[in-house]
Amino acid sequence: MKKVILALLVVVALVGSAYSAEAKSLVIVFSRAGENYSVGNVTIGNTMKLAQIVAEKTGAELFEVKPAKEYPAKYDDCTDIAKREQNANARPAILADKDISGYDTIYFGYPVWWGDIPMCMYTFIEAHDWTGKTVIPFCTHEGSGAGRTDRTLPAAMRGATVKRVTAVRGATAQNNRAAAERAIDGMLGR
Ligand SMILES: Cc1cc2nc3c(=O)[nH]c(=O)nc-3n(C[C@H](O)[C@H](O)[C@H](O)COP(=O)(O)O)c2cc1C
Repeated sequence: MKKVILALLVVVALVGSAYSAEAKSLVIVFSRAGENYSVGNVTIGNTMKLAQIVAEKTGAELFEVKPAKEYPAKYDDCTDIAKREQNANARPAILADKDISGYDTIYFGYPVWWGDIPMCMYTFIEAHDWTGKTVIPFCTHEGSGAGRTDRTLPAAMRGATVKRVTAVRGATAQNNRAAAERAIDGMLGR
């Protein structure tokens, strides 16, 4: 009898591990290159730097959300437009979409813009069914931490389990690879 129970346990463990190996994860990120606060002119955005680390460490595919109309490279111009979009509760069109139905875990990266996620990320979120997904959010900022996004993100992703946002300074993400990796390791529970 003990042998039968043991054999059953082994089968359960094997099926369980095969099942978890099939769990697919995806990194979704919006990040803006160009002139930004405290980092100057950059060719790879701060949040993208984090997203690349997440993709490297997890093996997840990376999808970049790009607005159909690119945001200005000049910092002040961008903050003006972003403020106007937020005030208007706009949903700026995005260049391409991504079918997320086959992914269980989604790492969701964004810069904090005026205390919230950039409006083009609402465009992406609202085009999808988030039921049953586990979302692990990360953001960059220059002082406000995650802003209001610990509330606005779960509210927008109905049906998903949204973990606490990992917030990293933009300048750290851009210029301090070791610190950025430590933050991502913490997020991944490593
Ligand atoms: C339009 C705009 C709005 C911003 N609003 C905030 C904010 O509310 N709080 C904050 O700490 N930083 C704010 N920042 C700074 C960015 O969050 C920070 O530079 C971030 O790392 C940029 O990420 P990215 O390079 O991936 O776009 C803002 C920057 C821009 C361009």
